[in-house]
Amino acid sequence: MKPVRLDVNIPGRHYPIHIGRGLLGQADLLPHSLRAQTTVIVSNATVAKHYMARLKSTWTGSVLHFLMEDGEAFKTLDTAAALIDFLLAHKLGRDATLVALGGGVVGDLCGFVAAVYQRGVAFIQVPTTLLAQVDSSVGGKTAVNRPAGKNMVGAFHQPQAVIADLATLDTLPQRELQAGLAEVIKYGLIGDSNFFAWLESNMEGLLERDPKLLLEAVYNSCAHKARVVARDEREAGQRALLNLGHTFGHAIEAHLQYQDWLHGEAVGCGMLMAADCSARHGWLDGDAVQRIARLLERAGLPLAPPAGLSAAQMLDLMRGDKKNLNGQVRLVLFDGIGQARVSADYDPQLLDATLQAFCKPC
Ligand code: NAD
Ligand code: GLY
Repeated sequence: MKPVRLDVNIPGRHYPIHIGRGLLGQADLLPHSLRAQTTVIVSNATVAKHYMARLKSTWTGSVLHFLMEDGEAFKTLDTAAALIDFLLAHKLGRDATLVALGGGVVGDLCGFVAAVYQRGVAFIQVPTTLLAQVDSSVGGKTAVNRPAGKNMVGAFHQPQAVIADLATLDTLPQRELQAGLAEVIKYGLIGDSNFFAWLESNMEGLLERDPKLLLEAVYNSCAHKARVVARDEREAGQRALLNLGHTFGHAIEAHLQYQDWLHGEAVGCGMLMAADCSARHGWLDGDAVQRIARLLERAGLPLAPPAGLSAAQMLDLMRGDKKNLNGQVRLVLFDGIGQARVSADYDPQLLDATLQAFCKPC
C-alpha cells in the first residue's frame, strides 16, 4: 500500500501530512531543515514502549525523550511546566524540535509547549490514535486544561509536518478506534454526504481495521480538515463547524469530570443531539436523523448522555462553551447530511426539548 501525501496550505506555514503504513523511521519524511537539530520526542509510556525506538532511529543527531503520564488528567500546565524545565535543564534553544508521539493528549500538550518555549520552536506531530490522525494533529490547535474547563489555555501553532503511520493503530484498543470514528463521521456530516454514505457502506471493514479502508478514511478526513484550516486558521468562521457535536459533548465530558467516556464518544452523542435539535426545527428530516443514529450505533458509540445528567445541568454546562457569543450558546446544526452550519437562531424551547428527550436524570 503506497503512502499518500496531503498539504496544509496556510500562507507562510505550509506543511505536509504523510499517511501510510510503516512511516516511522523514514528519515526522508522529516523536513530537511529539522534533521540536524536537537530533537525531543514527547510521549507517554503506553505509546513509547511500542514506537519510541523506531521513531528515534529516524534521527542521526541528538535525540532526547520526555515521557508524560498517560491520560487527559495530565494535559495540564503542571505537565507543560515539567516539559519546559526538562528543555531548560538540557539547555535547549530556539533551534530545538519537539516531536509529539502519541494521541491527542500528547499532541496538544507538546504543541502547546512548542508554541511557548522561548516564544516558539518547531514541532512535528506523529499521531498514534485514529482521533489524532484525523483531527488533533492537523490544524495547529494546541492546549492544556484547567479545572474550570477543557482546552482553556492554548495557542495556535502549526506543526512542520504530520506523520500518520497507520501501522501504529494496530495496537490501539478497539474502544479508542471507535471514538476516533466519531470524528471521521463528523467530516461526512459537516460537508460531504458522499463520504457519509461511504462510511455507511464500510463501517464494519473500518472496525476490522482493513488497511485500505483506514487509509481512505484518514485521507478524506485530513483532506477535509486541511481545506477548512487553510481558509480559516483562527476559527473566525468556517472552522467552528469542526466543533459539530462538541458543545453537547463537552458538557457530557465536564459532567463526568473527563473520566469514563472518551472524547469521541461524547462528540458522537453530541452529533446525534445536534441532529435531533435540527429535526425539531424542521431543518433536517427524520430519516436523516435515523441514518445518523444507525451509523453511530454501528460504530459502537453511545447514543444518549450518561444517566444522572439532567437537561438543566447539561444546558448550564453548555453555557461555558468557547464558541458562545455574548452569553448565548451557539450550536452547529444541520440543514441536511453534509450541510452543517453554526447557528444562534435556534429556538431555545426546541433545544430544551432535545435535552429533555436525551437526558435521563436518575
Ligand atoms: P489520548 O491521547 O488520551 O489517547 C488515548 C489512549 O490511547 C491513551 O491511553 C494513549 O496512551 C493510548 N494510545 C495512543 N496511541 C496508542 C497506540 N498506537 N497503541 C496503544 N495505545 C495508544 O486520546 P485521543 O483520543 O488521541 O485525544 C484526545 C485529546 O485530543 C483530547 O485532549 C482532546 O481535547 C484533544 N483534541 C484536540 C484537537 C485539536 O485540534 N488540537 C482535536 C480533537 C481532540
Ligand atoms: N477539532 C476542532 C478544530 O481543530 O478546529
